[in-house]
Amino acid sequence: MSKSTQVIGTRLKRIDARGKTTGETKFLTDIKVDNMLHAAPVFSHVASGHLLGIDTSVVENDPNFVAFFSAKDIPGENQVGVIFEDQPLIVHDVVRYVGDSVGILVAKTAESAQRLSKLVMVNIEPSPPIFTINDSRDCVDNFIHETNLACEHQVKRGDLDNAFKGADHIIEARFETPLQEHYYLEPQACIAQVTSEGGIDILGSIQCPFYVQKAVSKALAIPFSKIRVEQAPTGGAFGGKEDIPSETCTRAALAALILKRPIKMVYERTTDVQLTSKRHPFQMHYKVGVSNSGKLLAAEILLEENAGAYATLSSVVSYRSAMQAMGPYVIDNISVESKSYYTNLPPTGAFRGFGSPQAAFGHERMMDVIAAKLEMDPLELRLQNILKVDSSTLTGHHLKSSVGAEETLLTAASACDWEHRESNRDGRWKTGWGVSLIHYGNCLGAAGWFMDGSGAKIKLHRDGSISVAFGLIEMGQGALTIVQQMTAEALGVEPSRITVLPTDTEQVPDSGPAVASRNVVMTGNAIRDAANKLLPILREAAAELMQCDLKEIVIENGVVSNVRNNETLGFSELTNYLYLSNRPMDVLGWWHVPELNYDPALGIGEAYFTYSYATHIARVKVDTLTGVVKVDKIWASHDVGRAINPAGLEAQIEGGTVQGIGWALTEDFRVEDGKVLTDNLTTYLLPTAMDVGEIESILVEDPESEGPWGAKGIGEPAIIPTAAAIANAVSNALGTSITHIPIKPEYILEMAGD
Ligand code: MOS
Repeated sequence: MSKSTQVIGTRLKRIDARGKTTGETKFLTDIKVDNMLHAAPVFSHVASGHLLGIDTSVVENDPNFVAFFSAKDIPGENQVGVIFEDQPLIVHDVVRYVGDSVGILVAKTAESAQRLSKLVMVNIEPSPPIFTINDSRDCVDNFIHETNLACEHQVKRGDLDNAFKGADHIIEARFETPLQEHYYLEPQACIAQVTSEGGIDILGSIQCPFYVQKAVSKALAIPFSKIRVEQAPTGGAFGGKEDIPSETCTRAALAALILKRPIKMVYERTTDVQLTSKRHPFQMHYKVGVSNSGKLLAAEILLEENAGAYATLSSVVSYRSAMQAMGPYVIDNISVESKSYYTNLPPTGAFRGFGSPQAAFGHERMMDVIAAKLEMDPLELRLQNILKVDSSTLTGHHLKSSVGAEETLLTAASACDWEHRESNRDGRWKTGWGVSLIHYGNCLGAAGWFMDGSGAKIKLHRDGSISVAFGLIEMGQGALTIVQQMTAEALGVEPSRITVLPTDTEQVPDSGPAVASRNVVMTGNAIRDAANKLLPILREAAAELMQCDLKEIVIENGVVSNVRNNETLGFSELTNYLYLSNRPMDVLGWWHVPELNYDPALGIGEAYFTYSYATHIARVKVDTLTGVVKVDKIWASHDVGRAINPAGLEAQIEGGTVQGIGWALTEDFRVEDGKVLTDNLTTYLLPTAMDVGEIESILVEDPESEGPWGAKGIGEPAIIPTAAAIANAVSNALGTSITHIPIKPEYILEMAGD
């Protein structure tokens, strides 16, 4: 037996902490390559129109100018859409947003590339733009693409008409949520180089290296085998480096291929904010039938999403928001329609939760609207309808285990002493409490099942050290550390033996995108698979070397023992013997999400293989004189299946909660005529440590049988319930119903009736 070393569940220090805190870590922006040139995008300054011509004569005589490339220079397909083929790599006719790239300018320095790119004359004949969901939906001609409907998903289950007839109350409400900018600290950044074999090497600040490989191959007509994508150290990207690097890296690669020089491209901040994808604005209509006692009987839900100029990840957003539209409650009669509409705004794509925070704002505000109507405690209403083992989700997924919803609700309620909470509705400062409960389908779900597999490669060295490569990535979430922990646990060795390699498409097969809170589950299971292949080899070699029976071998904490006579062997002696006895030293582990029984026509069945659950309770103070909302404290209880690294989990919960507070209160992303007005941190207000109050993380462990050591994902659940909890608390404080965010002072003053 290989016994547990019990590395799982310990607060192992982050292996990338030192480099990132001392500044030793080299991010892409810090990296220089010999002979390199710099590129910057040339883009449209009108939101909608036809490209008539591009005039580079003003810049051509500049001593720093090197080249300009347009659509006609692309050797392969001019197409970079991630899921749908709706987005040209470089625009050659129709311009669809302020930021649509019409070319790429290469210069000798980064500064001159940026300066000259703005001087290129781009002649566009403007056409009337569309910016809102309503205008896009109601449009009858001059569509942005073939149609304005980018994509849609639905759930149709039960007998809605009858269920509404039997309801004691039918309650309706509308809610809206806004754009949100990722505001990752390092802008989009990459270096592309031509290899001596005529291939392309990319180093970049990226979330999905395999997406980049595919995009470069398509546009440059080079086989995957000649394209290598390596991830440079990347900070929190939150979905913002999922789709965009396919564009930026491919454009840089195009210039590198033609000029035979390394090309570095780092977006300026204002360019980055204008050009890159953001969180989809949602408008939502909820109609819910309930009994007098508070049982949810029927729901008819319409979610409409502003997809911006290109679909990018919109179909993931519309799928996921539909599948989770009524939250972790039992409801047997339901119709959900989730529709994403093209507009001439910058594209909206992946942002922590893929539409889940938006849908959570809808269903959790709705639960409070229902509770107010029935004069019930909002927590009681939730408890009465909550998913448990043996109940079915809104899509009819029968849950067999790991349903920690109730435990998150009860632990959060007891931590904040919900029963004895005091609301103060007198005077200038009013106190309010709000609760919000969510479920989050882990990994890509039925719609993305075909690509929901990931790999990890474990390599033993003769000296007993171990390297691990994995196909997903570190982007500030602590992936490197838990990969180290899980490998140590799986092999029965100390974490210090293990080096986790930077992600590189050459190391493991296409492992899909690093999204959807999939890393722990996918990589953890792939590591277990690799260890299950290595351990028999190690044990057989140990038995041979120690001349004992296989059954007597135990590998624990880096020591190989013969339990019969307590003889021991160092792990490095064993790995050296592995080499000397001609045994395999490295293996690839692989895991794919189990088959899902799902009917895409009706949206019924196993939408995801398992769900994480979370409850956030917010206590807020509302200043009715100034309109300012202060978050006093948030209790955040998360069912994570099993905590691999509790310190990392708490950090994820705190980070996600802070991002949710920003979306709820301070982040007011403004666009006028398609041009972003809030393109820096003096106008786009991210919350600081002074703005977020106290956050108490509570870990609930209800193990998932398919998860590695029982673990489920946490990255996105951390943000999903927060805005609704705050809006519910503000509604509670003011005795009103908050219907949209951000909850700005003006909105409070309006609601407070001043
Ligand atoms: Mo994320 S929205 O899973 O990149």
